[in-house]
Amino acid sequence: MCGIVGIITDSEISIKNDLLKSLKRLEYRGYDSVGYADVQGNMEKDVGEISKFLDTIKDSKTSCAISHTRWATHGGVTKINSHPHWDCKKNIFTVHNGIIENYQELKKELSGKGHVFITETDSEVISHFFEEELKSKSMVEAIKNFIKRIEGTYAILLIEKDKNRIYAIKKDSPLVLGLAKDRFYLASDIYAFSDTTNKAIFFEDGEFAIIDPNKYTFYDSKGKELKKGIYEFTWAISQEESVQDYPHYMIKEIHEQPISTQRLINSLDGEQHDKITKIANLVKNSKRVVFTAAGSSYYASLLGIYFLNRVGVNAHTLIASEFHNFMLVDKDTLFIAISQSGETMDVVAATKWARERGAKIVSLVNVPHSTLQRMSDISLEIHAGPEICVAATKTFTNQVVALLYLSFLLGFSVNMQTIPKKIDYVIRENEDSIKKMANELYEKKDIYIIGRGLSYPPSREMALKLKEISYIHAEGMMGGELKHGTIALIEPGTPVIALIPGKDFDMYSNAKEVEARGARVITIANMMDSDFKIDVTINDGKFAILSVIIGQLLTYYIARKKGLPIDKPRNLAKSVTVK
Ligand code: G6P
Repeated sequence: MCGIVGIITDSEISIKNDLLKSLKRLEYRGYDSVGYADVQGNMEKDVGEISKFLDTIKDSKTSCAISHTRWATHGGVTKINSHPHWDCKKNIFTVHNGIIENYQELKKELSGKGHVFITETDSEVISHFFEEELKSKSMVEAIKNFIKRIEGTYAILLIEKDKNRIYAIKKDSPLVLGLAKDRFYLASDIYAFSDTTNKAIFFEDGEFAIIDPNKYTFYDSKGKELKKGIYEFTWAISQEESVQDYPHYMIKEIHEQPISTQRLINSLDGEQHDKITKIANLVKNSKRVVFTAAGSSYYASLLGIYFLNRVGVNAHTLIASEFHNFMLVDKDTLFIAISQSGETMDVVAATKWARERGAKIVSLVNVPHSTLQRMSDISLEIHAGPEICVAATKTFTNQVVALLYLSFLLGFSVNMQTIPKKIDYVIRENEDSIKKMANELYEKKDIYIIGRGLSYPPSREMALKLKEISYIHAEGMMGGELKHGTIALIEPGTPVIALIPGKDFDMYSNAKEVEARGARVITIANMMDSDFKIDVTINDGKFAILSVIIGQLLTYYIARKKGLPIDKPRNLAKSVTVK
């Protein structure tokens, strides 16, 4: 899985300044290893991030090359397992995003015919499959056979040594052709080339294309030529992409939240008002609303159902990868998918599944023109601006703001206008004491976070942040559920963060129960003696946003104290594009 980029031109491009620069924009899809191959047969690959790779390789010029940034699935994070992969004669180079599910069977079959495999990956079979097919068939016939034989998901770019041409094949994993003035791009998404051109053609499942320097031809899975429309997109390049004076993107993005929430509120009051009103009407007229999402976006959806339930909407949510196992949808269901990237495979798959069953599809995305947005009947943009750190911070907050606004239109009582100011105040008031708390907590092995109702989803989101960025085992849980098992793990000194919105006495009692057993209780509440103070007196949902922001800062300062790679934590990708 991963990000892929290919470029073909009738002049010359630079591997470093064109190909890898473009690939770097897809690093959110994985950064375990990187590699490229060009049409002259040059090839380099290595473990680690693209910036490190750029420092170690020499630049060269070519007219046609493909590249890959990896998030490992099959086979460890090693140089040899990195893409591109090649055939026995080093004539065919391929990069792949997806999973070839029947690779073992194919590998056995091809080994029987004398092919030698040198990696542990599923993807390596692709080059050998084509090497075998091309002994007796044309490339178009070979691709048709490939589509027939392969089980799994794929966006593939293939080049042959000394032939100025890229072959591109797609099923389930995204793939798009970018049409620039002097070159064609093939990439996992338009972000790879949105600084160069706004013209693109999206591949649909089962399609493939042959790209020459001055011409492209699309085919369906049977090899029939297709006429495809060109999509012209608008993309505002934002200032926010640079880290400015901050040491990390994470802290910059946390501090941006007063501005990014204000931008979204303005847009929901302004140019997106009709859209969100339409969504509110759909909610009103549907028998049932079901959300799906993954990671932080899922915790935002939990808050969404909390708000909607308060105004009498029959709303549910389920993690995308399990959606088809535990949820029913039909034509009377309104399905709302939430995804920052709009590319998370689990979310895209659940959305496809719901659409096939007749549900109306709404999505909340941050990245415009993403796969999820293009699959939706209505798609709301959360306008958080580019989020570079792997951990979701400002995008989580804007997802919640959008859901609060939607609930407000349906009768939920909330003053949206004060959100940016409250965020600003919470950061200013608490940042210093959070730094001190980080010094106390950074060596802890476990942290528990408890919440109830409005503060339960924040407890989960905070725990996720602590795990992914601070590498501390953390559990976010319902305050009431603690006594049914987990309390056995509380020892003298175990940190328990209690999120106490308003006058929630049950929550207060849960905090006291662990304190009585020696826990180091840390409170986030609107109380004079709480460790971190949130200045909200009414339960209009803001507590959820503000408590999570305290959790974001705490996570950041713990990770900084530990010297961790904050913006690109180990093993993660910003968007996971395999199931
Ligand atoms: C990955 C990231 C998480 C993110 C999740 C969902 O797992 O590491 O931080 O919350 O994907 O991403 P999405 O783009 O769908 O919101």
